[in-house]
Amino acid sequence: MMNETVFTYAAPGLKFGAGASAEIGHDLGQYDARRVLLITDPGVAATGHPTRIAEQIAAAGIEVVVFEDAHVEPTDESLAGAVEFGRSEGPFDAYVAVGGGSAIDTAKAVNLLGTNEGELMDYINAPVGRALDPEHPLKPLIAVPTTTGTGSESTTICVLDVLSLKVKTGISHPRLRPTQAVVDPELSMSQPAMVTAAAGMDILCHALESYTARWYAEFPAKRAAERVPYCGANPIADMWSEKALSLLAGAFRTAVREGSDAPAREQMALAATFAGMGFGNAGVHIPHANAYPIAGRVRDYRPAGYPQEEAMVPHGMAVSLTAPEAFRFTFSAAPERHLAAARLLDPSSAAVDSPDLLPDVLTTLMRDIGLPSGLAEVGYDDRDVSDLVEGSLKQQRLLATAPCEVRAEDLAHIFADSMEHW
Ligand SMILES: NC(=O)c1ccc[n+]([C@@H]2O[C@H](COP(=O)([O-])OP(=O)(O)OC[C@H]3O[C@@H](n4cnc5c(N)ncnc54)[C@H](O)[C@@H]3O)[C@@H](O)[C@H]2O)c1
Repeated sequence: MMNETVFTYAAPGLKFGAGASAEIGHDLGQYDARRVLLITDPGVAATGHPTRIAEQIAAAGIEVVVFEDAHVEPTDESLAGAVEFGRSEGPFDAYVAVGGGSAIDTAKAVNLLGTNEGELMDYINAPVGRALDPEHPLKPLIAVPTTTGTGSESTTICVLDVLSLKVKTGISHPRLRPTQAVVDPELSMSQPAMVTAAAGMDILCHALESYTARWYAEFPAKRAAERVPYCGANPIADMWSEKALSLLAGAFRTAVREGSDAPAREQMALAATFAGMGFGNAGVHIPHANAYPIAGRVRDYRPAGYPQEEAMVPHGMAVSLTAPEAFRFTFSAAPERHLAAARLLDPSSAAVDSPDLLPDVLTTLMRDIGLPSGLAEVGYDDRDVSDLVEGSLKQQRLLATAPCEVRAEDLAHIFADSMEHW
């Protein structure tokens, strides 16, 4: 079988910097928008940013309808509610999402089902859903992140919980990619410390996983119609990931401890944007695959800084909890990349070329920024390992991007060794 020789790169237009979100009325004019739907969540609505942006859009002569009930960590039910709102209040010429990954992913689903027939299950990844391609192009979506984390403003994915199946999954298609990302670091200043910490670990794992992903030329060759947005590590994604790691080294601890530090917030916003450009094309692997069952099977953990009505392990936290052990496991597949990443993250780290270097740098950082010490702290114990492994194995699309084969027993070791990192 021939190996792949081609990699791909795609990204939305980007407007970055303090004050960038004050130009959205003008930006929407470029798409001839006359009537738009702005989507946000209650916590972000309380910051006043969405109202200010809506007023500014209206001042540009564009009618704006606001939906502020996006669910934090969207579910099939919450997305169906948002889609219903969009369909009944529509049609809209464009969409604006103001918030973290939760609001942006909600806007992607509303846009998809506002422009295409059918229901969510038609488009959700197989085997959970029918994985149909959207027949029609979507309307322009301007994504305005208020967290520094997911990179959803530049990716083709919408992540959701399917409540009845207790499974987290997604919709992934190039048509879901926002048209424009407007990254205004001033909007991220009000993130609670734990949101900054968890979302920041999402950035870090995006960069590390795409940097250590299977090299694009080690996959079997694909035909044009078979190409997927995630093509494995490649020279362009590497560039974004390396830069994101250096930015995190300089700013992550400060942004968590002193949320009012504007330069640190700006560096985190850049890191999130860069890592999004990287993983949005290369892909992610074991820590993200493991995050799905960790978040999906939560019992009663309620972290500070997040809505307290429901138990949750927020996405970035769920991703981070098995990352040290996952990178210990993948070390031998690409030692030089794991060592280079550790040294970018902590330039003072030890000179020894050890498989422990990256896990040690990660656990020190996680402890410093107040993350849980492992799976035990969020409510899991050894009896949960087989269920967690089963959930992770369902994410074959992600596990296939790992730099080596990942068997059930490998995942079992990773989960079991992630109960307490310190
Ligand atoms: N589509 C993608 O490419 C992608 C990638 C990674 C994660 N995700 C998804 O994104 C979601 C997580 O997104 P997130 O980590 O950005 O957080 P989030 O959107 O879930 O928000 C977390 C909390 O922070 C609050 N918040 C957000 N910005 C704030 C601000 N500036 N000031 C005050 N409060 C603020 C929100 O109200 C919420 O309570 C998950 O559902 C995850 O699965 C999507």
